[in-house]
Amino acid sequence: MSGQALTGLFLDTGRPEEIRKYHALGIIRGVTTNPTILVKDGVVGGWEGIEARCTQIARMVEPLPVSVEVTAGDPDEMREQARRFRAWAPNLNVKIPIHSPDGGTDYLRLVHELETQEDIRVNVTAMMSAQQGLLAAMAGATYVSLFAGRVNNMGYDGRQELRRLRQLLDAFGSPAKIIAGSTREALNIIEWFEAGADIVTVVPQLIDTMLVHPYSKETVRQFLADGRTLEREGLRPNLAGAR
Ligand code: E4P
Repeated sequence: MSGQALTGLFLDTGRPEEIRKYHALGIIRGVTTNPTILVKDGVVGGWEGIEARCTQIARMVEPLPVSVEVTAGDPDEMREQARRFRAWAPNLNVKIPIHSPDGGTDYLRLVHELETQEDIRVNVTAMMSAQQGLLAAMAGATYVSLFAGRVNNMGYDGRQELRRLRQLLDAFGSPAKIIAGSTREALNIIEWFEAGADIVTVVPQLIDTMLVHPYSKETVRQFLADGRTLEREGLRPNLAGAR
């Protein structure tokens, strides 16, 4: 873990009711979405629907950051979308993939321009390696998202990439925040923080898994039962005092 303060959990969902519930617990520090999440979470109606859902989420958690991903692959169109997100709400950040589907490298130029010329906070996404994260941070990205779960899916260890990225960003004095994404199991969360992530994105079900323990349930059940016994005892006349 680095010396800098950790930021915490970002909820990985587009469902307002889930965001309301977990935000009220005080345990999330931001929200992340992507086009796949928004489709799965029922966003319809084209741009009107995207705007309605994203602004609803942004207002719900303000001033915490909310990442929304561009839907286009053309850099000019992506720039327009980034400007549009920023106009919707000040706490909306734009997610830009590290490169195009065919490996085109001009997305990084867009990241650099948005951060340095347009004052738009960028979350560079879909990264699988420390070297990609380093380049995104050098380009000026506020957040660098390494999909550690997808790295694990391919048979590599996402923690190694996170550790290397942490060391590199610290060595360069980069202010970029490392986001570890694609959590697959509850254990990922603490392990990825330990490996150097500032932020871990988490789906609601994994928060429940972190929180709820069978032995805690049993313990609380016992305390409540004994609490009821105590209350009943309190209603009896104090015979000892009457003697
Ligand atoms: C994070 O920013 C991503 O939206 C998310 O964690 C991706 O998760 P997935 O690999 O399960 O799609």
